[in-house]
Amino acid sequence: MEIIRTVKQISSLTSDARSKGKSVGLVPTMGALHAGHISLVERARAENDVVVVSVFVNPTQFNNPTDLATYPRTEEADCRLLEAAGVDYAFIPTVEEMYPEKDERIFDLGQVADVMEGPMRPGHFNGVAQVVSKLFYYTHPTRAYFGEKDFQQIAVIRRMVELERIDVEIVDCPIKRADDGLALSSRNVRLSETQRSVAAGIYKTLKESVKLRSGKTLGEVKQYVIDTINAMPEMEVEYYEIVHPLTMQPLKDWEDAGKLAPVGCITVYCGDVRLIDNIKYKD
Ligand code: PAF
Repeated sequence: MEIIRTVKQISSLTSDARSKGKSVGLVPTMGALHAGHISLVERARAENDVVVVSVFVNPTQFNNPTDLATYPRTEEADCRLLEAAGVDYAFIPTVEEMYPEKDERIFDLGQVADVMEGPMRPGHFNGVAQVVSKLFYYTHPTRAYFGEKDFQQIAVIRRMVELERIDVEIVDCPIKRADDGLALSSRNVRLSETQRSVAAGIYKTLKESVKLRSGKTLGEVKQYVIDTINAMPEMEVEYYEIVHPLTMQPLKDWEDAGKLAPVGCITVYCGDVRLIDNIKYKD
């Protein structure tokens, strides 16, 4: 595996590969890698000739300076995992390399960004669109891999790709969970032992709520999830919305998504750690 730190070099390596007819799989990450990221890398490895993983803590998507400052940075361990997973290029640029000038671009992300994480984290999705569009321009991917834990983020990235007319296939990959069900996240390391065990209740409650779907209204199921999780020690639900899987708009009735499965998206504070998860309400 080669570690690449400049845009010029990654751009030349990947455009060269594409010009020789090779496919390029990109896995964008912010580092602090865990088994969830590695499952994306493995999929990219299986489906492409060349695999690039970017490791970059993108400042423009943090609306909270403390969150940016405390975001875990573990480059050496990340590189060991990436090497073992058979990655060709780890693209690890500095902030100055990615943003030699202030990025003033504002993306018209539309309805997929105007709910849930949109209003809760002003500017966050625009920052994601800025960095992911740059990564797409610099690494020429045939396919790019994203985890479904950030369900709304994938819809935002699809919208950005449509707006920018970028020729890339967006591949969404299932959530990877710990044995007790907690969705793997780089933020989990910030949970105390007690918080970590309570946090497993998020997925347990979501799964339970899927079983309740047939006998209850959507509003009742939503309230069940909020009340159950809020009753757990140190847990506070920021929002729980059951949404249309493509438009991200909150639904009023189960039938409002037609044949598609509604998706329940949750954000919970466990102490001061913000955790997100989601579940599909399939029959
Ligand atoms: O999901 C993430 O880790 C980040 O939002 C991403 C897609 C790597 C952009 O910085």
